Amino acid sequence: MDQVNSSMVTEFVFLGFAQSLGMQFFLFFFLPLFYVGIILGNLFIVFTVIFDPHLHAPMYILLANLSLIDLGLSSTTVPRMISDLFSDFKVISFHNCMIQMFFIHVMGGGEMVLLTAMAYDRYTAICKPLHYLTIMNPKMCVFLVVATWVIGVIHAMSQFIFVINLPFCGPNNVGSFYCDFPRVIKLACVDTYQLEFVVTANSGFISTATFFFLIASYIFILFTVQQHSSNDLSKAFFTLSTHITVVVLFFAPCVFLYVWPFPTKSLDKFFAIVDFVVTPVLNPAIYTLRNKDMKVAMRKLSRQVVNSREMDFVSKST
Ligand SMILES: *[C@@H]1O[C@H](CO)[C@@H](O)[C@H](O)[C@H]1NC(C)=O
Repeated sequence: MDQVNSSMVTEFVFLGFAQSLGMQFFLFFFLPLFYVGIILGNLFIVFTVIFDPHLHAPMYILLANLSLIDLGLSSTTVPRMISDLFSDFKVISFHNCMIQMFFIHVMGGGEMVLLTAMAYDRYTAICKPLHYLTIMNPKMCVFLVVATWVIGVIHAMSQFIFVINLPFCGPNNVGSFYCDFPRVIKLACVDTYQLEFVVTANSGFISTATFFFLIASYIFILFTVQQHSSNDLSKAFFTLSTHITVVVLFFAPCVFLYVWPFPTKSLDKFFAIVDFVVTPVLNPAIYTLRNKDMKVAMRKLSRQVVNSREMDFVSKST
């Protein structure tokens, strides 16, 4: 009995992220910088959309929700990656590993649904402009956001319930710098062939199918835009190209991580960085720096903040 207990895995070991010291310092400098950028940029979007009545259109409400999910998604891994950079013992407890996997998939699955919802919003706006306001009404927005979270939880749960009860008796090196289903399953000391299939079918199939569906939808929308050439053409092209960029950046790593049968460690790292660091920082960047409505709203918001501070100052000093 004792022997069984002592051979059970109670913690997992992460892979060192950077081999060379130079790379380590590089990451030690840029990861925190990016993470602060992710937090500030996404919170700024959320507050701008909430406080500016001009931005209460479905596209911006969905965008603000995407910002929240991005914030959550990178928070599942990046803080840990930063703290692990310079520690020699990169261990994570069994429970935290399970929790990390669960939330990665709640947020990741949710992001997929939300990106699809945003494509549907653009499709309705461009291909059915006369019905846009009746289709994308406030109720529809709430429905899409609720669906995002519900499907995210179902997607995570449907893999989690299989993994939580697996026996782990060592080895315990995850071979990555975060816990995720495909890597952790391989460490179980039972035959996991079927389970690997479940994960590939679930995460892999869903991300691949959604990816191709979204790309096809955007191509269709682009064709529609081109046919009805109007003054808004370049604006629509711009909005759509930002959406497509985000879709490609988010899905390409997913497809690789869950479907590609021959994982390579360096590519693994690269793709994980794209999903947890680059995509979450990119959303605020492209939407705020190049979108006129957002820029106007942000200028207004920051002016209000400055004004209220001045008022504060005046009232305190008198
Ligand atoms: C997310 O969507 C819901 C439902 O439409 C909306 O009420 C909420 O304000 C959105 N969240 C943000 C941060 O804008």
